[in-house]
Amino acid sequence: MGGLTHLIVFVSILAAITLKSEAQYLLPITKHEPTKQFYTTINIGSSAKSPLNLLLDLGTNLTWLNCRQIKSLSSLRLVTCQSSTCKSIPGNGCDGKTCLYRQPNPLGKSPVVTGRVVQDSASISTTDGGKFLSKVSVRPFTFSCAEEKHFQGLSPPVAGVMALSPGKFPFWRQVTTAFNVIPKFSLCLPSSGTGHFYIAGVHYLIPPFNGPSGRPIPMTLTPLKNIESGNYIISVTSIYVAGIPLSLKPNLLDGGAKLSTVVPYTVLHTDIYNALAQSFTLKAKAMGLYEAGSSGQFKDCFDLGGTDRAGAGLKVPAIELGLPGRAGEVKWKFHGKNTVVYVMETVVCLAFVDGGKTPNDLMVIGTHQLQDYMVEFDLSTTLLAFSDSLLLHNTSCSSWPSQK
Ligand SMILES: *[C@@H]1O[C@H](CO)[C@@H](O)[C@H](O)[C@H]1NC(C)=O
Ligand SMILES: *[C@@H]1O[C@H](CO)[C@@H](O)[C@H](O)[C@H]1NC(C)=O
Repeated sequence: MGGLTHLIVFVSILAAITLKSEAQYLLPITKHEPTKQFYTTINIGSSAKSPLNLLLDLGTNLTWLNCRQIKSLSSLRLVTCQSSTCKSIPGNGCDGKTCLYRQPNPLGKSPVVTGRVVQDSASISTTDGGKFLSKVSVRPFTFSCAEEKHFQGLSPPVAGVMALSPGKFPFWRQVTTAFNVIPKFSLCLPSSGTGHFYIAGVHYLIPPFNGPSGRPIPMTLTPLKNIESGNYIISVTSIYVAGIPLSLKPNLLDGGAKLSTVVPYTVLHTDIYNALAQSFTLKAKAMGLYEAGSSGQFKDCFDLGGTDRAGAGLKVPAIELGLPGRAGEVKWKFHGKNTVVYVMETVVCLAFVDGGKTPNDLMVIGTHQLQDYMVEFDLSTTLLAFSDSLLLHNTSCSSWPSQK
């Protein structure tokens, strides 16, 4: 009898542990169309109703925000200089006895953001991969209260910046550490509507994927390099337009490509941009498009003429990044919705920006290219996983299971 009870207790503890490690969390992603800023929403503090919108930034090490927007400050605590938390925050400083955090504003408006490091709780939702289930509290959640003057550049619904860097204190890692789950997160940036931000995601239930058929989203893997730099960088071995590789000086690809959730259009070194634009133009003309000059920041635009404008679609040459995979090169393929942008009803522009001859990074992949792909950042394996364009599967990042 006693033995059996013990066994049952043991089995249920085991089940609880297993369940816990399978726990996954889901947050919404909203696109602020006028500024192309992508933000998520979390509740901070003891007041259940204190939702704050935070810009998603892959390059920020510690979340910072306007603490005046937290409804109840009763559970907010200052972090002291002497604490191990303060000492392990990159860019930490000291103001008498409170810990300070300094880091560049990702939008580059005000040069450095300084704020007091504080702790409170944050609440987010568990998920089955498709729905928001129960609220759970992350405590302590460490972030910084930035001064008002640093908020220039953030669009009004946004109250701060959510840190998603590969470092020690980004939001996602505070969640995976608190709940002892696999250190990874995934972004599915929406082109409109509400997208998906998973932490420790197991099943991505974006119909028709992982529905009754159980079919998961097909993903391709490539290594992340130099994560010590605080950025997510992938190696690029070649760039293809309509299947033909660009001829580029190899050292132009040496730095790899940095992923960004704040840069709206992929920025390329002038020499890479020119090679891409030249090849794209040649192929586009062969497909029946006409050159149509430049428009604003876009240097190469095209009149669609009578070509088919429907679908994922939009018949323009595909652009692919060749990346190192497990068994040779893998390709990340971008189609019309991600390679061009409409500037008029019948005119599209190559949605890439010439970053000049001396950019900080030779290639920065922006959100117009990333939207409607599932992109997973797995720090347990230091691998990046990316899906096909979900649009090719007649779905998108803003597709949700029907509520029955
Ligand atoms: C983030 O932290 C890393 C070290 O972990 C550092 O190299 C990087 O410069 C920091 N990034 C910013 C934007 O402060
Ligand atoms: C998507 O829809 C189009 C048109 O409705 C259809 O031709 C195509 O086969 C569909 N693709 C998938 C992957 O279901």
